[in-house]
Amino acid sequence: MHSTAPQHSVKLAQNSIAPELSIIVPTYNEKANVGELVRRLNLALGDIAWEVIFVDDNSPDRTYETVKQIASSDSRVRCIHRIGRRGLSGACIEGILSSAAPTVAVMDADLQHDESILPKMYEAIRNGADLVIGTRYSGEEASSQGLSPIRQWGSNLATGLARKFLHLDVSDPMSGFFMLPRTRVDAITSKLSDEGFKILLDIIASTPTRLKTVEIPYHFRQRVAGESKLDSLVTAEYLGLLCSKLSGGFLPIRFLMFLIVGATGIAVHLATLQVATHAFGLSFPSAQLTATLVAIAWNFILNNQLTYRDRRLKGIKFLFGMATFYAVCSLGTFANVGAASWLFEHEPNQIFAGLAGAILGAVFNYAASSALTWHK
Ligand code: GDD
Ligand code: MN
Repeated sequence: MHSTAPQHSVKLAQNSIAPELSIIVPTYNEKANVGELVRRLNLALGDIAWEVIFVDDNSPDRTYETVKQIASSDSRVRCIHRIGRRGLSGACIEGILSSAAPTVAVMDADLQHDESILPKMYEAIRNGADLVIGTRYSGEEASSQGLSPIRQWGSNLATGLARKFLHLDVSDPMSGFFMLPRTRVDAITSKLSDEGFKILLDIIASTPTRLKTVEIPYHFRQRVAGESKLDSLVTAEYLGLLCSKLSGGFLPIRFLMFLIVGATGIAVHLATLQVATHAFGLSFPSAQLTATLVAIAWNFILNNQLTYRDRRLKGIKFLFGMATFYAVCSLGTFANVGAASWLFEHEPNQIFAGLAGAILGAVFNYAASSALTWHK
């Protein structure tokens, strides 16, 4: 009896050591990977006092159950089970905010990130780095390993643009594998966007001072279990975030995406107009009406895929959403034409009146469709 009591208290004392490093792992349908990740973290982290916080968005495969089961016998493992919310950045931010550890890391659950560089990353933090990024070896090697060629291309483009416009000299600002002192995030929480997936770029771009950054390369592994939740469209979202940051955060990412989609809609409109008049011999008014209807459908589908990818409408909701979108765009057109005509009467400048009408229409369509078509 007596011999077990001290052991017990020793164990308690060990368990009560506060973690110095907290690893935040966003998960969505990663049931098959979380157990293996915890096992690997345990092997990799040696005598660092660590904890891992899984942030699961109510995965259909019930990843949260598996995590909680592991957590029930390992106090270094925690689970934040989020209901009614979806999004990689939001999940990472929430995980970081829930941590009291002085150093936080973010990494994927799918074992594509190499956990064995974590001690090196932590050492860099202890040596005074403000940010340590696990960077994927770039070029052919990266694409043959974990990314599709089109994603690799998008990634390179986005990285190049970020370097040029945001003056980031980071080789992989799209990385989802990084570590930093928690105070670095605490200082900018109100500036971070919980939408989308570009958490690292957002942190760098939201920090007013230059972060002392260290990069540690690793081999981006192939995903074994489960499937990727990100696709080539993430590049478009990334460009949106870039523009939003360039406007000093004044223009929300979604609005910019909406505008980009709208611009492609104009191209579709003009192309349809050509086909309708030349191939189908429609009169101009009928062709213009057809082109308008086609362009609105195009805009709806693209916005549904891209701008509102996190609230994507499917099945019957898709049809219902399309109907509300047609209604919104019709009203937007009235607002546009009405305002432009009124302005033109007062100030007969075509470009000024036309542009003002178009901007008003776009803002109206954006505001009304986000409230009606893609409401939360
Ligand atoms: N909580 C939560 N909510 N987690 C999510 C969500 C979400 O909506 N979407 C994805 N995740 C989790 C996944 O479960 C995984 O652990 C991690 O976020 C990365 O998602 P993947 O689906 O594996 O992304 P990837 O491998 O295609 O993307 C790679 O490239 C991105 C940039 O191009 C990764 O390296 C990402 O970290 C990187 O940002
Ligand atoms: Mn992955």
